[in-house]
Amino acid sequence: KKKQEQFTIAFSQCVESDLWRKTMLEEMKRELSFHPNVTFLYKQADGNSQKQITQVKELLSKNIDLLIISPNEADPLTPIVEETYKQNIPVIVVDRKISTPLYSAYVGGDNYEVGKMAGQYAAQLLNGQGNIIEVTGLPKSSPAIERHNGFVDALKNYPSVKIVKQVNGEWLKEKAQSKLAAIPGQYPGVNLFFAQNDRMALGTYEVFKAKGMATKPKIIGVDGLPGKGAGLDLVSGKVITATMLYPTGGEEAIRTALKILNKEKFEKQNLLQTTVIDFTNVRIMQLQAAKVASQQQQIERQQTLITEQVRIYNNQRTLLYIMVLS
Ligand code: FRU
Repeated sequence: KKKQEQFTIAFSQCVESDLWRKTMLEEMKRELSFHPNVTFLYKQADGNSQKQITQVKELLSKNIDLLIISPNEADPLTPIVEETYKQNIPVIVVDRKISTPLYSAYVGGDNYEVGKMAGQYAAQLLNGQGNIIEVTGLPKSSPAIERHNGFVDALKNYPSVKIVKQVNGEWLKEKAQSKLAAIPGQYPGVNLFFAQNDRMALGTYEVFKAKGMATKPKIIGVDGLPGKGAGLDLVSGKVITATMLYPTGGEEAIRTALKILNKEKFEKQNLLQTTVIDFTNVRIMQLQAAKVASQQQQIERQQTLITEQVRIYNNQRTLLYIMVLS
């Protein structure tokens, strides 16, 4: 049997403190557990573009076979990605994009579609009339730009639905909260908030509660993660009205990486689908997530069993060997 080739995959993550990024890493590790021939190097940059550039350079010095990167902001990370690609090291860009076509593949959610579906949903909720505040992520990160563009395009069909204000929450709950709290008054006439992720959606809700607005505004978030206090919980607890599913693509990124390394056919653009999660379908999403989690536990148990069997087998072989010798 041909010995499996050894590969080193490096992953440069822009930030890791939130559940969405943790889920992405878990998905990658789960997929990697089926490929013991891969060494995985990982660095995260605390949401700092300069730090991420330095980290990519460090990873490049380690003789890697492929780079996966989720760039904190598009423009600052573009030169280093181009440099990597020109050194004939394949690059897979995940979730956030860069400003160059010089990369091997993109894997991630369709952010324009996320914004567009959110816009259509918002217009329906408002019956074609109302005022919206948009709480955005880092303005130079591609999901913030694309979610906004999709949202605005969807609203073009509804002239009486207006975005009256944009607030930059930098993807962070606390940032969104302090920016929103700084707006004087109780947002008169604002009926809906579109927060570009669920953490900022929760921040929005908490500010609205603190300000004691007369009528509860509608809030739409993005991500739709299972887990305590995450998007699905927020929807089922009626803290927010809806969330747009934004898959992390961790598993797909590793699969694409292995295709590239094994010289198999692969797609350059790998867009993952989104959907609206609201009170009508959140239960089924939660049940499905629970099912996936229990299947994952099964897989882990089976892997432990296999490792144990291999250990017993090796011990017995050694024993046999000793017996034959003596
Ligand atoms: C996590 C996150 C998500 C968001 C994504 C956009 O770090 O802020 O909430 O959907 O990044 O890149």
